[in-house]
Amino acid sequence: MNHLLSIIRLESVSSTNEFAQKYAIRHPDEGDFVVVANEQSHGKGQRGNTWFSEKDKNLCFSLVKQNIVYPADELFLVNMIVSLALFDTVSVLLSPLKIKWPNDLYFGYKKIAGILVENSIRGRRISQSIIGIGINVNQDVFPDDLPRAGSILTESQKVQDRERILQLFISNFERYFLKKIKFDILKQHYMKNLLGYQCVLSYKDARGLFDGRIVDIEADGRLCLLDKQDVIRKYLFKEVELIH
Ligand code: BTN
Repeated sequence: MNHLLSIIRLESVSSTNEFAQKYAIRHPDEGDFVVVANEQSHGKGQRGNTWFSEKDKNLCFSLVKQNIVYPADELFLVNMIVSLALFDTVSVLLSPLKIKWPNDLYFGYKKIAGILVENSIRGRRISQSIIGIGINVNQDVFPDDLPRAGSILTESQKVQDRERILQLFISNFERYFLKKIKFDILKQHYMKNLLGYQCVLSYKDARGLFDGRIVDIEADGRLCLLDKQDVIRKYLFKEVELIH
């Protein structure tokens, strides 16, 4: 599991994504690197939410990837690579898992991990990605207002070595990146593990609740759902929510 990424280890930080962004600006020659912290005081989640993670129990880290050669119109590629690398990593310890579009990791009804990718675009290329990952590893109790949150420990009753998971994720991620897998091939693998693919489930959009079936994902990540009237509805992130 040898990799060349340098790892910055912090005891406590506001958010590893924010730290990584500032560090990358101050150290333009650093290349790719990882920042991992035992505690975040202001961990950032999707949709402007806060990411709550108990000190010393879980994994909170950001991987900075520079000079990504994928074109910006295939923006979702980075997202799929990260989701699949995370899926492969956690599946070794807990299975079966599902990826919830665009990039949450679920075991049954419990969310085990979340991803926050912040891309910088230069021209038509993704120039830098800050890939923030939170994996609930050894936390055994979650606040009452997070009924969907679970950890590898709560779902498998086994305590895990956080460093081993970090190393495994980095090597899985590099493997996906180095292979330069084509969008369509990655998409097949992603869809196979996607929660709700080809199953009728309940969704909510700006017009209200409806039943739909995921039939496709477009290059920009748009989710394509077939509704009961056989109409394909397409959504960008935050425009639709799975009700489960
Ligand atoms: C989500 O809402 O599902 C995304 C959660 C992402 C959390 C991680 S923890 C490490 C990194 N730093 C942050 O501030 N957020 C991400």
